[in-house]
Formats: sequence, structure tokens, C-alpha cells
Amino acid sequence: MPRIIDLPKYMDPRGNLTFIEEESHIPFNINRVYWIYDVPGGQMRGGHAFKEQQEFIVALSGSFDILVDNGQQKQTFSLNRSYYGLYIPQGLWREMNNFSTNALALVISSTYFSEKDYIRNYKDYLSWLAK
Ligand code: TYD
Repeated sequence: MPRIIDLPKYMDPRGNLTFIEEESHIPFNINRVYWIYDVPGGQMRGGHAFKEQQEFIVALSGSFDILVDNGQQKQTFSLNRSYYGLYIPQGLWREMNNFSTNALALVISSTYFSEKDYIRNYKDYLSWLAK
């Protein structure tokens, strides 16, 4: 199940600080980090499923929504703070949309990049689930 994971938050008049440690906060080993930024208004990212990749997504800046779909149920999570993120297990369809101006999405991934891990078509996703 996808779930929100809270991160440590050090509030400070000099500016706030949050961090992620692999073993403490993330339920998988980190192999890759990437980020999505400069998303034009109205654009959708990440319309696909991953067969193996687990990920943890944080809105480092701004806000966006993540729709997660297991083929039967859809859930939408709004991310808009940098002190929590969404854990998405493998095998789920997900879409990212409603990006605010200057939104910065940090994606921490359990795998190296592999195009073979993607299912980019929703019908193919449903057939993959039915296997
Ligand atoms: P993609 O994951 O399809 O973007 P999104 O999920 O945001 O819609 O990635 C777009 C392209 O970027 C993809 O075709 C290949 C490249 N890419 C890499 O080479 N390495 C990476 O780690 C990622 C995430 C993407």
C-alpha cells in the first residue's frame, strides 16, 4: 500500500532542516535519486507503472498530486511540504499532476534506471496484473 512517511523536522528561526537516512526512513535500499522540475502548467508526469521499482517522493518545493492506482482502486495524495513524502511500492500505476509553479519533486528509487521496468500503457498494466 502507498503511504505517507513523515521525516524528521528541525524547525529553526534560521531556517528549517529535514533529512532522509536510508535505514531509518526509507523501506528499501536507495540506488538512484532524480528530480522533476520546471513542469509547465497543466502537464502530467509519470503516467506509468514500475514492475520492480519502489520509490519515495517528496515535494521539496511547491506542490503536486500523485494518483496511485492498483487496477481496482485509485488514491490521490497531495504533496506540499518537504518534511514528508509518499512511499509507493512496486507494481502500481501512478501519475503526477497539478504541479504548482516552481514545484520540485524529489524521487528516491530502489533501482537503477531501466526502461524494461516501465509499463507505459494502462491497458498493458491491467494485462500485466492479470498474469
Ligand atoms: P520518465 O520516467 O518517463 O518520466 P516521468 O515518469 O516523469 O514521466 O523519464 C523520462 C525520460 O528520462 C525517460 O525516457 C528516460 C529518461 N530517464 C533516465 O534516463 N534516467 C532516469 O533515472 C529517469 C527517471 C529517466
